[in-house]
Amino acid sequence: MSTSPPPLARRLRDATRDAHHALDHHPALQCLLDAALTREAYAASLLALYPAHAALENRVCREIARLGLHLRVPRRLPRLADDLGSLGLPAEAIDSDTAQLPASPASLAGELYVLEGSRLGGRVIADRLRRTLGPGVPHAFFSLPMVPGEWSRRLDELEALCLPGESDAAVAGAREAFARFHHQLDTHFRG
Ligand code: HEM
Repeated sequence: MSTSPPPLARRLRDATRDAHHALDHHPALQCLLDAALTREAYAASLLALYPAHAALENRVCREIARLGLHLRVPRRLPRLADDLGSLGLPAEAIDSDTAQLPASPASLAGELYVLEGSRLGGRVIADRLRRTLGPGVPHAFFSLPMVPGEWSRRLDELEALCLPGESDAAVAGAREAFARFHHQLDTHFRG
């Protein structure tokens, strides 16, 4: 039996649908789904994803700690670094977070939505990578699946972080996280 998502989750999805569409059509990510993907293009994509993901994951984890919240977020950055290492490439994180304002619990809910939601497309991408580049292709970053119920539990956590009347702040946090991620890809993709 499937339950409908909580209200904040529906709002976040509606408010960021365009941003997600723009991001999954970014050349750095579109190429991952291309039947003609080469190992070199995959490497260029991971090199751009590294700083984009690092900025988001590091910020979310740091703000969770600063706010003293008891939220568990799996770290995927080491997986991305390992994938790059297997391709013979360095992982160079650029922490561009210094100018950002501290998060409120509600705006953090929006950022966490983007970070964890980005795992949802991973299985599609991992399947495609194995088909185009072969079963030996390093793809640990895209291969951390959600266990059954994990996403809906996460959405409940986001709901609990956001007090009534604060959903605008959560939406703003999510939209900013998407925009920053997109900007990082624009800056770092050398496809
Ligand atoms: C080529 C790249 C991508 C593909 C193919 C993709 C694909 C998908 C798919 C299929 C879903 C829905 C999964 C489901 O409902 O079970 C999804 C959800 C989501 N993705 Fe992506 N995605 C990509 C990149 C990203 C990136 C880079 C981010 C964020 C940095 C992101 C954030 C999200 C979020 C927040 C959701 C949840 C949407 C909701 O509320 O239902 N995605 N993605």
